[in-house]
Amino acid sequence: MRRSSLIVLLFLFALVAGACVSGTQQSNTGSTRKKKGPNEPIKIGFSMDTLKEERWQRDKDLVEKHSREIGAEVNVQVANGSDSEQIKQAENMLTQGVDVLIVAPHNGEIAASIVEAAHKQGVPVISYDRLIKNSDVDLYISHQVVKMGEMQAKYLLDHVNKKPANFVVVGGSPTDNNALLLHQGQMNVLKPAVDRGDVKIIADEYAKEWQASAALNIVENALTRANNQIDAVVCSNDGTARGAIQALEGQHLAGKVLVSGQDADLASLKLIVEGKQTMTIYKSIQPLAYGAVDAAVKLARGEPVSTTETIDNGAKKVPAILLEPVAVDKNNLLGTIVKDGYHTLEEICAGLPPEKCPKP
Ligand code: BGC
Repeated sequence: MRRSSLIVLLFLFALVAGACVSGTQQSNTGSTRKKKGPNEPIKIGFSMDTLKEERWQRDKDLVEKHSREIGAEVNVQVANGSDSEQIKQAENMLTQGVDVLIVAPHNGEIAASIVEAAHKQGVPVISYDRLIKNSDVDLYISHQVVKMGEMQAKYLLDHVNKKPANFVVVGGSPTDNNALLLHQGQMNVLKPAVDRGDVKIIADEYAKEWQASAALNIVENALTRANNQIDAVVCSNDGTARGAIQALEGQHLAGKVLVSGQDADLASLKLIVEGKQTMTIYKSIQPLAYGAVDAAVKLARGEPVSTTETIDNGAKKVPAILLEPVAVDKNNLLGTIVKDGYHTLEEICAGLPPEKCPKP
């Protein structure tokens, strides 16, 4: 064969070989991204940290429900607060051939290794509710967390009737980026109030693993330190709010001290109706769960996902979808949580004195 024909032949071979990998695309990590065809079913892996708080069961149920609705297969694994377990479960799902991973990380830094492992296999990763830091994660879907912290602090500041008012700040788990963002939001509001002389911060601590018992300890110690002169406790979620309320109850102060929360847990809605918790942040979970499943399918097929902003995770600006939170107290509970069917009025009022219950 003449040399020129050989070159033409090699060139044609290269073209054909290129066409054969048209079912894949290059990811920005350099690994080859798998890409499913429009009619191929998608396998989603959902790696969850915990089901401890009521909301996470709802996330799980809705992710499963929507996956069924759109004909995707979903495998849910729950790590029960263990990083090594979460990594192992994610690796197993990758071995089983999931096309995309949705990860609600226990520890936002450590979970970066899950993104790395997934990308090595060409599998995209969605960071769910909590941001995975310092990684090449493909998408982040959550609520506006800094705004939630601002809403919690602002609500208590607007409703406290003392100047200066003594505040306690109870953060969530410091290994959860959400806890840090909430704290940032809370301080955006409280710091200027401290500078104005309207607020004194008696304690400002993180509750390990979002534990109610940790919140109880923080508030008990603060009460002792301030001789029970506490006016407001900015709690970052409802679980820790209930721990704080237990500490207040010990000093017969429940209902006299303002307490914020987050999640619209049934147990906290009851406390709001009773007047022991002041407010909560209601985050509707359905758009989060459905949004994550829809985005997962798109990423697995190599299709674009529309996002609202980007969030810097230390390694890159992650395309993000951030949903609106709503502040809820006993005055707008009916028009928000009950109206949306998140909890029924019957559920909320069960076991409470009827006269306390809001009238529809
Ligand atoms: C979530 C909250 C939850 C907390 C504890 C946070 O990252 O956003 O909804 O209460 O974790 O699980």
